[in-house]
Amino acid sequence: MPVRRRRSSQLSVGCPLFPRETDVRFHLACVTCDQTYDGLALRYRCDCGGTLDVVHDLDRLRGKLSTATFDSRKLSRERLDKSGVWRFRELILDVEPEHVVTKPEGNTNLYEAPKVASWVGLDALQLKHEGENPTGSFKDRGMTGGVTAAKRLGATRVACASTGNTSASMASYASQAGMEALVFIPDGKIAYGKLSQALAYGARTAQIAGDFDAAMALVQELCAAENIYLLNSVNPFRIEGQKAIGFEILQDLGWEVPDWIVLPGGNLGNNSALSKGLSELYALGFIDKLPRMAVIQAAGANPLAQAYAAGTEALSPVAAKTLATAIQIGNPVSWEKSWRGIRQLDGVVAQVSDQEILDAKAQVDAQGIGAEPASCATVAGIKKLVAEGVIAPDAHVVGILTGHLLKDPDIVVGYHQSTLEGFDSPYANAPTRIGATLADVKAWLEG
Ligand code: F0G
Repeated sequence: MPVRRRRSSQLSVGCPLFPRETDVRFHLACVTCDQTYDGLALRYRCDCGGTLDVVHDLDRLRGKLSTATFDSRKLSRERLDKSGVWRFRELILDVEPEHVVTKPEGNTNLYEAPKVASWVGLDALQLKHEGENPTGSFKDRGMTGGVTAAKRLGATRVACASTGNTSASMASYASQAGMEALVFIPDGKIAYGKLSQALAYGARTAQIAGDFDAAMALVQELCAAENIYLLNSVNPFRIEGQKAIGFEILQDLGWEVPDWIVLPGGNLGNNSALSKGLSELYALGFIDKLPRMAVIQAAGANPLAQAYAAGTEALSPVAAKTLATAIQIGNPVSWEKSWRGIRQLDGVVAQVSDQEILDAKAQVDAQGIGAEPASCATVAGIKKLVAEGVIAPDAHVVGILTGHLLKDPDIVVGYHQSTLEGFDSPYANAPTRIGATLADVKAWLEG
């Protein structure tokens, strides 16, 4: 198909930070109709309404870049090399180093989780803990990409709708870059660990009278009307940074490809990013096969899982309700990219109940790893897929944990004190009230 490249009418050519077109080694392409735009065009969607991809010139990189390049950077003390995102910069965003806003992020642990493995019915299980990023969630990988693009474009105000983690991350990176951050969160449906971060990092925060999907629609309207830079995962540069989650897993494994990578799905940016990044590694010949991917949704916020079960790619929005508030999303923005990735990685989609998420979380926490509820949909999903025979017990499985345990401590305490209304706590580890003498302690230890 011939490439139709369109110059954006919204291009801020007068901006001193804006590159000449010839300086940019990537362009944007519509996922729906293949229309292309300049690499740093100030737009998030195609004229047809489709979402946009960043397309890198892989032919130019072939022969100049290898996994050895990325491995050698792990030993380097250079600012960009220390980031688990910018170490892979040629495949993220090829911009001048001075524009890169990094903390650095990534470099998260890939844990062996033997107790969780036996609970889910696997011989072994590895968990990549993205809650170990600077603001406690995987969002930092995408945000370093998004805020870097914002800086490159000369943006001074950025905005997002969020179930909590995106806002925490954006608030922190915007502060670092000297930008004003505007955060829109659903009223009363955000974990306090995340709300506290947005407030503490100085974001102007609005709790809207509506759910996440309403906040998402509102912020897109606002950004278009007021020339504010939108930093939700509909922004293609967020996806580019987020891809590094897959690059780093592969690097952790010495570029050996696992059988499965399993992750939760909400707005569907993360799984879109994972599949895009891995497909690029494959196209470059850096890996000799692709892993399979499983996307796990909460049963109460399951538009992708419903469509998958019905054998259709047409997504019907749902009114979302789950105790895993991070993924309480009924109308995900990245669904088209998501299907493409599921096709590329021979993926599956499953759904799990909130009770299954809570019990999986108790296992992940008790392994000494710990993660927030949405993350543990990953483990609940693996258990389900092993039981259904989709994942073989001896498969090499990497599960992604997306957020830190302390993001949502209320759920932890509620579970272990058996006070979560409508839920059981079969793995509760409740605290005991005892007297303040040694005799009391001894009696408690013996009893
Ligand atoms: N896990 C956690 C901890 C999240 O915060 C999110 C999304 C997801 C999984 C789902 O990832 O949206 O890429 O499919 N949180 C967003 C937010 C929506 O606003 O923080 P996704």
